[in-house]
Amino acid sequence: GAISAGAGGSRDIAEVVMQNDKNYLVLFGSQTGTAEDYAKKFSKELINKFGLKVICVDVENYDFDNLNQLPENVMVSVFLSTYGEGDFPDGALNFEEYLNEQDAGSLENIKYTIFGLGNTTYEFFNSAAKKAMKALDNAGARLVGPLGEGDDGKGTTDEDFLSWKETVLNELKSVLQLSESENKFKPSFKYVELEEVTEEVSLGEPTRDYMPASRNSAKNVNGPFTVSHPYIAPITESHELFRSNDRNCIHSEFDISNCKVTYKTGDHLAIWPSNANEKVEQFLSTFKLNGSETFDLQPLDSTTKQPFPCPTTIESVVRHYLEITGPLSRQSFGLLTEFAPMEIKEYVKKLSEDKDAFAEEITSKNYNLADALLHLSDNKPWANVPWGFLLETIPHLQPRYYSISSSSNMDPTSIHVTSIVENTPNSITGSPTLGVTTNLIRNISVAMNNGNDKVLPVQYDLNGPRNLFQNFKLPVYVRSSNFKLPSDPSVPIIMIGPGTGVAPFRGFVRDRVHMVQQQGKPENLGKMMLFYGCRDHNDHLYANEWPEYCSTLEDKLEVHVAYSRVDAQKVYVQDKIRECESELVSMLNAGANIYVCGDASRMAKDVQKAIATMIAKDKNISESEAGAVVKAMKVSAKYQEDVW
Ligand code: 2AM
Repeated sequence: GAISAGAGGSRDIAEVVMQNDKNYLVLFGSQTGTAEDYAKKFSKELINKFGLKVICVDVENYDFDNLNQLPENVMVSVFLSTYGEGDFPDGALNFEEYLNEQDAGSLENIKYTIFGLGNTTYEFFNSAAKKAMKALDNAGARLVGPLGEGDDGKGTTDEDFLSWKETVLNELKSVLQLSESENKFKPSFKYVELEEVTEEVSLGEPTRDYMPASRNSAKNVNGPFTVSHPYIAPITESHELFRSNDRNCIHSEFDISNCKVTYKTGDHLAIWPSNANEKVEQFLSTFKLNGSETFDLQPLDSTTKQPFPCPTTIESVVRHYLEITGPLSRQSFGLLTEFAPMEIKEYVKKLSEDKDAFAEEITSKNYNLADALLHLSDNKPWANVPWGFLLETIPHLQPRYYSISSSSNMDPTSIHVTSIVENTPNSITGSPTLGVTTNLIRNISVAMNNGNDKVLPVQYDLNGPRNLFQNFKLPVYVRSSNFKLPSDPSVPIIMIGPGTGVAPFRGFVRDRVHMVQQQGKPENLGKMMLFYGCRDHNDHLYANEWPEYCSTLEDKLEVHVAYSRVDAQKVYVQDKIRECESELVSMLNAGANIYVCGDASRMAKDVQKAIATMIAKDKNISESEAGAVVKAMKVSAKYQEDVW
């Protein structure tokens, strides 16, 4: 987080607010940085527009026992994302516990607003925010404005936030009797330009531990490895899995034999990207920035922390810390109005205020920030946008998570990742949306296999800052998941994973294969049924491996493949499920676990429906009763999803 523990490093939230003379508390609980991003935007607006003294903090870093000691005039705004099965983010579990311990009336003096970040493609939409609101309500806290519900599933989080914000700011104006001035950017840092790059200047190393002076420190291999302290993992093997070259899917193996990183089959691997050369250059030229300019940031307020290690260079920040190719939000766009080139200022202002026009002109075209601005200005640079504004306003690059496709039993020293390369053509602009991490992984794969003749959409600095990533390395860490085989090997297993959704199931199957290779086949070994789907034989993942696994596991593994683009009629995994109905029903009646991995927006829902229909037929109950059975299975982890 950019802003953290205040004076004396106290964790007491009320003390920190008071000691720093603040009159507004913004709290966020974030899993991937989105809630943090919105919390900071909101804070900045409260400061700029209303002159409020805001402290914006990650709930992970504070204790709340004294929250009810906050002075009466201090307003609290909560930004909370929902993760997994309606859960609080990992870093907000302490906050959840605190809320649940409150007695009726214990927070009577608290006034708050709340905005949740969720996704309607998942079962428990904005559950964390709803739970928090209920707990606050029970404790007597007073909600100002409505519960905000951002929906990433429909891709409307930004508009959801803007309309929630409008209502809430109006209410706040009357509750706090605020007077409004124009939302002009006020920097949070004093910017100090330095003469030259020295050893002390960060060039984008993932953590301070990797600074030159300590590059060989024991910490590099001993961990603990966390979201703020990645392991720089060597990639020992990487190759293309698809047979046609119109799309790409890369199998990569990360070596963890020389460090204390461990994982369990079914976990996720976080990988940190950096931006491609072309995108860095486009960004620098759009804003007429000098990439080699070296600078330090001095916080103007004791509760504000540097957003990245300083001193550093502009290029390092653009390449390693800013999400420069993400979609442009109308909120951020609105803030740019004051710096727009004179000739188009009026138009930019109008566009930022018109939801539909913005959607048509910018969002539908999948423009990133630079694309959008250059499009509007006829390719003239936006030279008036201060660098200090950009570094405070653009969201930070976050690690991307991949379902691990190896088995911690069979492959204890190596982590396999199966990543489809995002390269979505845009029918309006013609320029594709390029996945930052997946294209980086592909470029590494091509370089490792001497594919210098290959034409790649973008190039990266594969050596990384100060050659830290030289010889093919990437910063990673393991995030544990609940997506696990049962410990009892007699439980039958039904796995449904089209596309790269097959990744964790390759791990599951390798687990079982390894067990049989080591100990022989147990008498009562449960059957595994895998439903896999792909377009045709060109994108059939690990096609050569499945027969080997089947020959080891014999009748205990069955693989059913749905080819969607081979026959005139599409065949999907749910069609294959229907074909195997009687066998699946008997597996379920014998206590089978169901696992679904892959696309959340349609596939996981369609599969859930197909399973419910099957159960309805078997048990002679209605579809909605069967739906409740499936929901109950989800709650008791008999039906697990790893979907995105
Ligand atoms: P399609 O792209 O030909 O429609 C992996 O992406 C596989 O999942 C592809 O074969 C894809 O088919 C298929 N797929 C697409 N939508 C699906 C859905 N709603 N349910 C199941 N499979 C789907």
